[in-house]
Amino acid sequence: MMLWSGRFKKETDERTNDFNSSIATDSRMYKYDIEGSIAHVTMLASQGIIPVEDRDKIITGLSEIKEDIESGKLIINSAAEDIHTFIEQTLTERIGDAGKKLHTGRSRNDQVALDIRLYLRDECDNTVGLLKKLLDSLTEKGEQNSEVIMPGYTHLQRAQPITFKAHLNAYVEMLKRDISRIEDAKRRMNVSPLGSGALAGTTYPIDRKMTANLLGFDTYTASTLDGVSDRDFCIELASALSIIMVHLSRLSEEIILWCSWEFKFVELDDAFSTGSSIMPQKKNPDITELVRGKSGRVFGDLITLLTVMKGIPLAYNKDMQEDKDAVFDAFDTVKLCLITLVPMIDTMKVVPENMRKAALTGFINATDCADYLVSKGLPFRDAYKATGEIVALCISEEMTLETLPLEKYKTICKLFDNDIYEAINLENCVKKRGMIK
Ligand code: ARG
Repeated sequence: MMLWSGRFKKETDERTNDFNSSIATDSRMYKYDIEGSIAHVTMLASQGIIPVEDRDKIITGLSEIKEDIESGKLIINSAAEDIHTFIEQTLTERIGDAGKKLHTGRSRNDQVALDIRLYLRDECDNTVGLLKKLLDSLTEKGEQNSEVIMPGYTHLQRAQPITFKAHLNAYVEMLKRDISRIEDAKRRMNVSPLGSGALAGTTYPIDRKMTANLLGFDTYTASTLDGVSDRDFCIELASALSIIMVHLSRLSEEIILWCSWEFKFVELDDAFSTGSSIMPQKKNPDITELVRGKSGRVFGDLITLLTVMKGIPLAYNKDMQEDKDAVFDAFDTVKLCLITLVPMIDTMKVVPENMRKAALTGFINATDCADYLVSKGLPFRDAYKATGEIVALCISEEMTLETLPLEKYKTICKLFDNDIYEAINLENCVKKRGMIK
């Protein structure tokens, strides 16, 4: 029987029920639904709205439902409309009339708004925990390779010498911002909507501050309409998660390049690579390709949320039921990527010789050559031009800045002396920039 059977003369069509049901998605919030209900009845009893004996029966009943779901004794009925309905109906079946008092002064609208916040609060912590693991493993990999010189790139053209540590540190900084974005969004979300009722609050003398405190919220929503209608926090989190995926995808793209025979800067462990069904020589970086690909899912989740929310009038509308699939998927995807990337990076072998080999060609110390001339008194633009001519000379003579004889240097600019070789030495170039400490 439906919750609303009093008003209706007919049973709802099976297709309506199937279409309307969200239990396949929201059953994962059962723990939070029960936690919210326990806080709600605790407040109801303390305000004298329901008897203390009923509160105790409800709390015992809800705690047993939680245990039974966890032990597998109680199977969540996939035919129920949603997890809120399933738990309330199961409670009433088990404890009788007291169960019917649980929903006093509450609506599923504030209930669901509460459950998502509680669920996402934990998801924020889980995700931050995983981001910290990735941050640690990149920091560690950087430490192990703090003196490994590689070409730094712009336009994917060799640009200036850097260390592998400096390269990875850029990702460490991105991850720090990612963590702070999730933490900021979590703080803004940490406001209890309970007590908003369907939209206009309730006539019962409820204590919103008490339920907010019991559930670990900083405060409760100032507007009851906003309390049930706000899904900004889902959008904000999906946006923070999308930015995380941008970062993971860029890192993945680089690892894909580095694994290729063209670069061979790194080698992935066999345990974190895959082979081909036909080409026996292949070792593919599938994990990183999937991370790159899955970024599309998370961006899609963000667009879903924005689109679902943009045109709906206040307050609750059923469209909003679509929020959970999107925001849950975004969290699931990011967590899955992080769980797999961390051990892949931990076991990734770096090939310093190949990085160095690449750093030795491409004239990545040309800026240092120009800076050398500046130190000898030449204005930078003239030094830049002279160095460009040196590079052109090297290309035509098939030489590098390191192998070009001093006499040749002098044909372009008299200021060159023997100390040019020290100035363009790759180690010195990175040291001068403070990259090797
Ligand atoms: N399953 C619903 C959702 O996820 C719960 C709220 C239902 N409220 C309502 N008035 N139909 O949004």
